[in-house]
Amino acid sequence: MVDDILRTPGAVRDAERWTAHNYHPLPVVISSAEGAWLTDVDGKRYLDCLAGYSALNFGHRHPQLISAAHAQLDRLTLTSRAFIHDQFADFCRELAELCGKDLVLPMNTGAEAVETGIKVARKWGYQVKGVPAGQANIVVAEGNFHGRTTTIVSFSTDEDARADFGPYTPGFTVVPYGDLDALTAAIDENTVAVLLEPIQGEQGVVVPPEGYLPGVRQVCTDRNVLFIADEIQSGLGRTGATFACDHEGVVPDMYLLGKALGGGIVPVSAVAANADVLGVLKPGQHGSTFGGNPLACAVAVEVVRLLATGEFQRRSAELGERLRAGLEGLVGKGLVGVRVRGLWAGLDIDPTLMSGREACERLAARGVLAKDTHGSTIRLAPPLVITEAEIDLAVAALAEVLAA
Ligand SMILES: Cc1ncc(COP(=O)(O)O)c(C=O)c1O
Repeated sequence: MVDDILRTPGAVRDAERWTAHNYHPLPVVISSAEGAWLTDVDGKRYLDCLAGYSALNFGHRHPQLISAAHAQLDRLTLTSRAFIHDQFADFCRELAELCGKDLVLPMNTGAEAVETGIKVARKWGYQVKGVPAGQANIVVAEGNFHGRTTTIVSFSTDEDARADFGPYTPGFTVVPYGDLDALTAAIDENTVAVLLEPIQGEQGVVVPPEGYLPGVRQVCTDRNVLFIADEIQSGLGRTGATFACDHEGVVPDMYLLGKALGGGIVPVSAVAANADVLGVLKPGQHGSTFGGNPLACAVAVEVVRLLATGEFQRRSAELGERLRAGLEGLVGKGLVGVRVRGLWAGLDIDPTLMSGREACERLAARGVLAKDTHGSTIRLAPPLVITEAEIDLAVAALAEVLAA
């Protein structure tokens, strides 16, 4: 087929023409999907190895989630929090139980969950810890990615994310990720929280040294500081456990959740914490028109039920070992580094061979969709419904790309 009878080039041109260029997508135009597979407007099929940055942990259009969404669409979609709806309590209770926490505060996007966590930590600092007014600080890590709001980019160390968006929100101290001594030294009497990703996803699936997260937990307990774990990308089965913190037996004071919580259907995020923390918020002090809406709750409660079976965590752990074995076999054959936790992998391509972007373009040509991050690093995060044969297919496509 020649270009002018394919629909993709025109659709790519139209998308470029009519939107701000705040993304640089691969030139594929998807029109349908099921499980781990995507189909584009020209009928070409792709294996999804990004899963919406982990928002599609249960695959595209998981039948249980789609049927919950359909049923809810036919009954009630929005009330605002001015009234209570009949899907709300079950979702909050079941998510709180999954997290082992007293309470849940639902929002929509990941960034909103992070903003909520920051606000709650500050209020807790003033009202419970006794920090003098306006003096609260939060310790964060270099290489962090917590979202795109003005406050969140204020403590980003990625110049693309941060530059020219000032004036910046004060009250954050940045320390090297994985360095417990630096983190401990940064905590002072006005520190209300340490905010960390237990694995840094955007940074390239960077796993901190063993013992770091338990060390952070301990120092937070000792110094009366809240440990906030941003599990928006790492949580809900991605790493072979419900939460990435579980791998080291760590329980944070606050979980920030998002992405997969919406089942790949609706944006749903949440903060889960105990009553002594989330209880600092009183009516009128925080909220969102769409947060905790009936459609979101109806889908997200089914997500929680899928996770409560443990099946997806198990799949992720078992299939992750196959992914690891395949990828480690490519080290020295085009890869210079590989980090794998469950079905989540950061791959460092030999930068003398090609950029991460080039590798992703070549993978797409072979029917595998993945996304580069930072230079020559690629992240793989396939839906947890992927099969062994499909993992082998992705690894074989990568081997071809690296050998070409
Ligand atoms: C760890 C982490 N936190 C927060 C966010 C922000 O989520 P959202 O894009 O839904 O605002 C992301 C998104 O990639 C993330 O990976």
